[in-house]
Amino acid sequence: RARAGAWAAAARVAQGRRRVEGAGRSPSPVARSQRAALYVHWPYCEKRCSYCNFNKYIPRGVDEAAMRSCLVTEAQTLLRLSGVQRVESVFFGGGTPSLASPHTVAAVLEAVAQTAHLPADSEVTLEVNPTSAPASRLAAFGAAGVNRLSIGLQSLDDTELQLLGRTHSASDALQTLAEARRLFPGRVSVDLMLGLPAQQVGPWLWQLEELLRRCDDHVSLYQLSLERGTALFTRVQRGALPAPDPERAAEMYQEGRALLREAGFRQYEVSNFARHGALSTHNWTYWQCGQYIGVGPGAHGRFVPQGAGGLAREARIQTLEPDNWMKEVKLFGHGTRKRVSLGELELLEEVLAMGLRTDVGITHQHWQQFEPQLTLGDVFGASEEVNRLLEQGLLLLDHRGLRCSWEGLAVLDSLLLTLLPRLQEAWQQKTPSPVPGG
Ligand SMILES: *[C@@H]1O[C@H](CO)[C@@H](O)[C@H](O)[C@H]1NC(C)=O
Ligand code: SF4
Repeated sequence: RARAGAWAAAARVAQGRRRVEGAGRSPSPVARSQRAALYVHWPYCEKRCSYCNFNKYIPRGVDEAAMRSCLVTEAQTLLRLSGVQRVESVFFGGGTPSLASPHTVAAVLEAVAQTAHLPADSEVTLEVNPTSAPASRLAAFGAAGVNRLSIGLQSLDDTELQLLGRTHSASDALQTLAEARRLFPGRVSVDLMLGLPAQQVGPWLWQLEELLRRCDDHVSLYQLSLERGTALFTRVQRGALPAPDPERAAEMYQEGRALLREAGFRQYEVSNFARHGALSTHNWTYWQCGQYIGVGPGAHGRFVPQGAGGLAREARIQTLEPDNWMKEVKLFGHGTRKRVSLGELELLEEVLAMGLRTDVGITHQHWQQFEPQLTLGDVFGASEEVNRLLEQGLLLLDHRGLRCSWEGLAVLDSLLLTLLPRLQEAWQQKTPSPVPGG
């Protein structure tokens, strides 16, 4: 334990100086292939929420020391495998990572700092569940090196929170939010859900207004998706609850984003809103198709395994079930269950679909890093269907690049139905098809 906390101490000094930065930071001198974001999955929860189909377990007891040592080991193994020199953000998600001890968070951060470079101003986010995070615990996470919180608030209506099977009340949520803001000013995000069964537009907007009076500089709006196998799905299927109404959800989303805009928030991504530049660096990496490493049961990653002589980017998923994952980590140093190498076209499809989620879209410069031969104009400029979207004002293609308008962002999925096939077509024209029998 002697070294534990060294990174966190240095980071706290740096935090005193840090200005809030977001996307558009000056590019680091380290090559793209040597940079990555790191996701750490804590798989345990206190109780199952009624809508949740994430990879989470409700344990009778957790051997936290074993879990901690496996997270540390896997982080070290995957960092070495990736050849990554610089970790620009860390995100502790779950499950309910605020149930982990701050010591575990500190141990993982120290291991990352010792295996690769973790700059003192790296964004380190912890997902927080209101009932598992009293102020003293939040402060301890801060001392461990966490510098940003993402609070799973979900709703400010107790009846809805009960319906969702959450363990917290609206007043718990507001109290956690207030404490989080005091401890991490300018660095607190809240999640608000929309589209619940029987939820009405007006009352939901009052919730959002209430939240806007209390929140910090980052808000995420999520639409509830009813997943097979969840308790909520069963209740709807049995007719005990009305099915969520997609049109009403779309209305909530439209009214909600307008309200957030009036309140000075920039919608920098389909579900994410920030003011004062408080964008999430970690998630920005996903939308820019940067590399990321996923550590912990069921975590996903996408990186080039350079340390193992790899050339192509791989999608990687870790073993889901925590006990099996731990056994594998103890045996092999990591619990990777599946590796799929991504083709060039697949990667470009991701660049397109992820990039268009942001308000910046895909700049020419960004596109060129992934596709040096075909420009955005080559791919999309001559297509009649794409031109129709441009004329309708849903899409913009200009000197900056390709991006959605305010109207287009709300219907991105339907735009992609036109754009993705167009990309595939252009790609096939570029790559000569194999000669039959040759
Ligand atoms: C941001 O990234 C975290 C970690 O992968 C994820 O859990 C979260 O859902 C993301 N948020 C959004 C709005 O995409
Ligand atoms: S706290 Fe999160 S991960 Fe855990 S059951 Fe609820 S929604 Fe799922």
